[in-house]
Amino acid sequence: MTAVVLACPGNATLAGALASRLGAEAGSLVMRNFPDGESYVRIDSPVAGREVILVCTLDRPNDKVLPLLLLAATARDLGASRIGLVAPYLAYMRQDDRFAPGEGITSRYFAGLVSGYVNWLVTVDPHLHRYQNLREIYRIPAQVARAAPLIAEWIRHNVPKAVLIGPDGESEQWISVVADGADIPFVVLQKQRKGDRDVEISVPKIAHWRERTPVLVDDIISTAHTMIQAVRQLRATGLPSPVCIGVHAIFADDAYGELRVAGAKRVVTCNTIPHASNDIDVTDLLADGVRAAFA
Ligand code: R5P
Repeated sequence: MTAVVLACPGNATLAGALASRLGAEAGSLVMRNFPDGESYVRIDSPVAGREVILVCTLDRPNDKVLPLLLLAATARDLGASRIGLVAPYLAYMRQDDRFAPGEGITSRYFAGLVSGYVNWLVTVDPHLHRYQNLREIYRIPAQVARAAPLIAEWIRHNVPKAVLIGPDGESEQWISVVADGADIPFVVLQKQRKGDRDVEISVPKIAHWRERTPVLVDDIISTAHTMIQAVRQLRATGLPSPVCIGVHAIFADDAYGELRVAGAKRVVTCNTIPHASNDIDVTDLLADGVRAAFA
């Protein structure tokens, strides 16, 4: 029997595309809230004895996670042979240490929770900074798809004479791969984060790149303050308006508008989180990840 793909609310487009890439059934389900706010879950497609693939991107996770876990529990209860989670954006990766006394290392607790409900996980560029890989916190097999080759291809087709800019040291891991794929030089800036929306960026000597279009690339754009400060600093050194590329388009509050106003020439993201800026399609990456999880 073919696998069945179940889309959590808001994930139907990507789930449908994924099902068709995999030759899987796009399953039918109902997920809604009762008037008291509790979740109602019903799976209408047969799942007994079948591989079930749940698709749920996990930006703004707190409202999504409990319904997702209830859906996974329902699929298991109805006899699914295995349940996998395709979470194009994986939440709770940034609190990867106890930065102040008493803080919870929520990445670890979240990973433990998810690992208890699904058999495998596929995601795109999780924020791996202090963890080397997801195995350090997830007890289930996890396939990590990398958007860097797609970003490199996008830059090759859309930005002639680019110079790639990483906004902070963490970004070097993917910036170097993108730069290699797009065959362009790269520079990594230095960031000091002082608060959720308070970051300082310092720029090395880069005035010699004035003839090139700077392309800022980061994994997550949340408040966009990292990108905004980087845009301002690059403009202050006399470089042209940068193109800003993020893998995951979280855009908290009016972050997208603020980034445009700050002077970004264009803002482009991958479709790991649905957003108007999505221009890089990760469906094939996710399909490859699911095939690897099945292997
Ligand atoms: C850093 O830890 C990440 O790679 C991103 O730079 C960060 O999450 C961006 O956050 P914000 O958009 O809120 O500055």
